[in-house]
Amino acid sequence: MGKIVLSVSPRDEKTISRMFPSFEFYSVASVSHLQSLLIEQNDILLVIMDLKALGVEENSFRELIRSRSLNLPILILADDEEKLEKDLSFDFGMIDFIGKPFDKWILNEKIEVCLRMRTVMLIFEKDRSLRKNKRPNANGNFFQESTINELMDLLETNNDNLMVHLRRTSRMMRILGSKVQSLHLAGYGISSKELERMVIAAPLHDIGKICIPKSILDKPGKLTAEEFNLVKQHVLYGVAILQFPKDDVPEFLETMKMAKVIICGHHERYDGSGYPYGIKGRDIPLAGRMMAVIDVYDALTNERPYKHAMRHEEAMEYLKANSGSHFDLVITDVFVSVQDQILLLSVQ
Ligand SMILES: [Fe+2]
Ligand SMILES: [Fe+2]
Repeated sequence: MGKIVLSVSPRDEKTISRMFPSFEFYSVASVSHLQSLLIEQNDILLVIMDLKALGVEENSFRELIRSRSLNLPILILADDEEKLEKDLSFDFGMIDFIGKPFDKWILNEKIEVCLRMRTVMLIFEKDRSLRKNKRPNANGNFFQESTINELMDLLETNNDNLMVHLRRTSRMMRILGSKVQSLHLAGYGISSKELERMVIAAPLHDIGKICIPKSILDKPGKLTAEEFNLVKQHVLYGVAILQFPKDDVPEFLETMKMAKVIICGHHERYDGSGYPYGIKGRDIPLAGRMMAVIDVYDALTNERPYKHAMRHEEAMEYLKANSGSHFDLVITDVFVSVQDQILLLSVQ
């Protein structure tokens, strides 16, 4: 098992190590010590740091992150975590914040999330060494099938039936994308390369759910407003997880860029009432608009802990009724036109 780096005040260090006797910690008192530790040790899972206790300015922290010497989940302890969160935001990747004085339960939750993120990152890291030494697969892509399998297995442990949902959405993306491509509609162009990237990236659209507690994802009843807000975070967590060094295999980076587009767009709505950004119409990238239709159709037609499965015909009516408000009109029409293929896939 790996260790957690504590770059906090001696007092907080004592409190945290007492709170979590089952974890092992590295204690770090300066940025230079932190940097050398990150180079020397490869068993680090997460860094918990207090910028003030370390005497680090926000700007130098930005530099530290930009230099990518910290390619790990980071949990920042702060007196005013809301201000700091606004200033540093999610742009930098796997950063989360916790206010002081912290409570054990919240800190535990946040550590759990970071550790799950780290598990996903380790899978990607393993894939990185594989793809660096391998030629692209038959589709010209570098993403290893074994990596997808491992990710899907991991996601399934946190959310029942998620794996089949994710795999189906990938196949639906192939059907919908090929049809859109063949129609040559103005504003709806998709190159063959883009289509391949969309198909590979589609199963990653809910990857951020790894950071949402299983008790909420598999809750049989209706979610509270607070729980729903937490579930919505899976979009930003997903984007945060997919951070890769710029010198990675270019085609792989392009596919991950597509994955981020799909992640960000799959809960946006055509009329601007979606999340996380509330963007509307064609401001939502095409791949995101396509994923929205596919995702909702698959969610409707399959049983979830909190609802029964809807019949295919009913789901089609739902899509049509919400076309133009929730969904892109053109994409909905194309999806309806390929419904026989989609239905075949759902019953497989
Ligand atoms: Fe989602
Ligand atoms: Fe989904």
